[in-house]
Amino acid sequence: MGKKFSLFIVALLALNLLISPVSAEDLLKTDAIFGTPEIDAEKDDIWDGANVIKTERYVEGSDAAWAEVRTMWDEENLYVYAEVHDGSLSVKSENDWEQDSVEVFLDQNNAKSATFEDDDGQYRVNYENKQSYGGVASADNFTTATKTTDFGYVVEAAIKLASAASEGTVFGFDFQINDDKDDDGVRDAVIIWNDSSGQSFQNTSGFGELTLVKEAASDETPAAGEEGEKLPNTSTAMYNILALGLVSITLGGFVLFKMKKRTA
Ligand code: BGC
Ligand code: CA
Ligand code: CA
Repeated sequence: MGKKFSLFIVALLALNLLISPVSAEDLLKTDAIFGTPEIDAEKDDIWDGANVIKTERYVEGSDAAWAEVRTMWDEENLYVYAEVHDGSLSVKSENDWEQDSVEVFLDQNNAKSATFEDDDGQYRVNYENKQSYGGVASADNFTTATKTTDFGYVVEAAIKLASAASEGTVFGFDFQINDDKDDDGVRDAVIIWNDSSGQSFQNTSGFGELTLVKEAASDETPAAGEEGEKLPNTSTAMYNILALGLVSITLGGFVLFKMKKRTA
């Protein structure tokens, strides 16, 4: 095989690497800090140290309501404080999931099972504090408070855990917003933190991950590059840098080879 041809093949391969980035959705992760808030829909100071995650992945529709969500834990409960930005509030639909509402999905053994197991729950509450449930969720393990605000509404919730929680435990976790935008009783948009499949109510394999940590976060809003923020796909970025390097070296070599040939 000629030198020229081999160089050409290497360049082609490198180019191919460059234009086929990893396409799967990144698995989002966050840490819940340790503490015990009062469930009253008021943002007590204790929430200031919590990590903030945002619902930014569409399940359906566009221009959806969205939320900033904080999490906390103690031995008995997982706590969630969500500020939902929704310009027009509606509970017109007869279906709970089509009303302006939030849903927490929790997989307590993080088994990522394709169907709900005994530990998996779908905890839904609308902005008027009406609850509804899927899986292990029930009025017995879900305590909520809501209030409407100038930006939409707030939900504060406690989910009672099946067994005593401890530091380092990882739960499968997701947070969804249902939005009826024009008060016609039909859900127009659904947005979620991690799993955009629309299957979270029956399949836990797409949930994000939440780790129970002891220390409070140092910043209220994590900087880009820290957990809790949407990250660029760093593995893809690394991949591209490597591929770009390979292309440059190959092309450089090719040019040198040509020049040498010409001067020879
Ligand atoms: C989903 C709906 C589903 C419902 C069942 C919701 O999370 O978005 O599509 O029908 O759960 O409870
Ligand atoms: Ca499970
Ligand atoms: Ca709405």
